[in-house]
Amino acid sequence: MRRAKISVIGAGNVGATCAHWAASKELGDVVLVDIPDKVGVAQGKALDLACCGPIERFDANVIGTSDYKDVAGSDVIILTAGIPRKPGMSRDDLIQTNVRIVKSVSEQIAEYAPESVVIVVSNPLDAMVYTAWKATGFPTNRILGQAGVLDVARFRTFIAMELGCSVEDVSALLLGGHGDDMVPLPRYTSIHGIPVSQLLPQETINACVERAKVGGGEIVKLMGTSAYYAPASASVQMAEAIIKDKKRILPCAAYCDSEFGVGGYFVGVPCVLGSGGMEKVLQIDLDAGEKKLFEESVSHVKDLVKVVQDAFPELK
Ligand code: NAI
Ligand code: 2OP
Repeated sequence: MRRAKISVIGAGNVGATCAHWAASKELGDVVLVDIPDKVGVAQGKALDLACCGPIERFDANVIGTSDYKDVAGSDVIILTAGIPRKPGMSRDDLIQTNVRIVKSVSEQIAEYAPESVVIVVSNPLDAMVYTAWKATGFPTNRILGQAGVLDVARFRTFIAMELGCSVEDVSALLLGGHGDDMVPLPRYTSIHGIPVSQLLPQETINACVERAKVGGGEIVKLMGTSAYYAPASASVQMAEAIIKDKKRILPCAAYCDSEFGVGGYFVGVPCVLGSGGMEKVLQIDLDAGEKKLFEESVSHVKDLVKVVQDAFPELK
């Protein structure tokens, strides 16, 4: 059986950690790509990771490169290239720099791995997924953004901390963009089937919602740059669902037109991930309050996309 191939663009904190999770889960061969100035870093991290194989018991070729020819034949590409935020910066402050990087990387992906499914991670996420879509010209099922799996994992972690229960038993859902106005949904949150509202007081649930919304910023304040263990773990969970055709239902930034009345933007919604990439968006009922929050978040996504379109008319 042919081994799957995962390419990770950007060998920095998130990218190298994606390579780590992907190799340790033995998802396939891993290619770590960075700019020519940092090819030594990509190669060094790849070699170091490859040498974990005998200890962790995975068989995978792991290489570092700056040559996009090496991504040819990738099943999944995780795009992490770009600058991360520093304390005091919002994700949106990164837009001008990262749209240039994501556009040029996406053009290379389209040339060398035209059949791949692309999982975009670079921030501001919702605008970067749009950029990758336009710059690759890929069908919408093969362009996804990673945000919801991370954001909902943070929400689940905070709920489990409050309850003193296993994180595995907390199931939750979250919608919207990857900004501080993301929409965790307590009404769709349960502890092994028990609605969270039966186990925690409303003010504690609200505090978990608020903490999840600024969860990325909490880590930036603590360590001076953005998170990478959980973002990479989330991205690799999406890659695994695609490579193994698992039909996982995960919240991802997916293209929605009539779905949720979004009108042609990538926003965080529950979807089915399998070998076809994003195979289906699952429509769910929202009450008036949830709908209002979702629409506010989508309106922020639209503003970000407009910034990209105004600065780069070729991406309209
Ligand atoms: P980092 O600075 O550690 O790594 C970024 C890497 O991208 C660097 O090695 C850099 O040389 C490389 N790079 C820059 N231009 C490139 C190009 N044209 N081609 C290939 N590689 C290129 O940053 P980190 O922490 O890994 O974050 C990466 C991005 O991911 C940031 O934009 C950050 O905001 C975003 N992020 C998104 C999350 C999400 O949930 N969607 C979570 C965490 C970070
Ligand atoms: C995060 O949520 C910064 O998007 C990054 O950690």
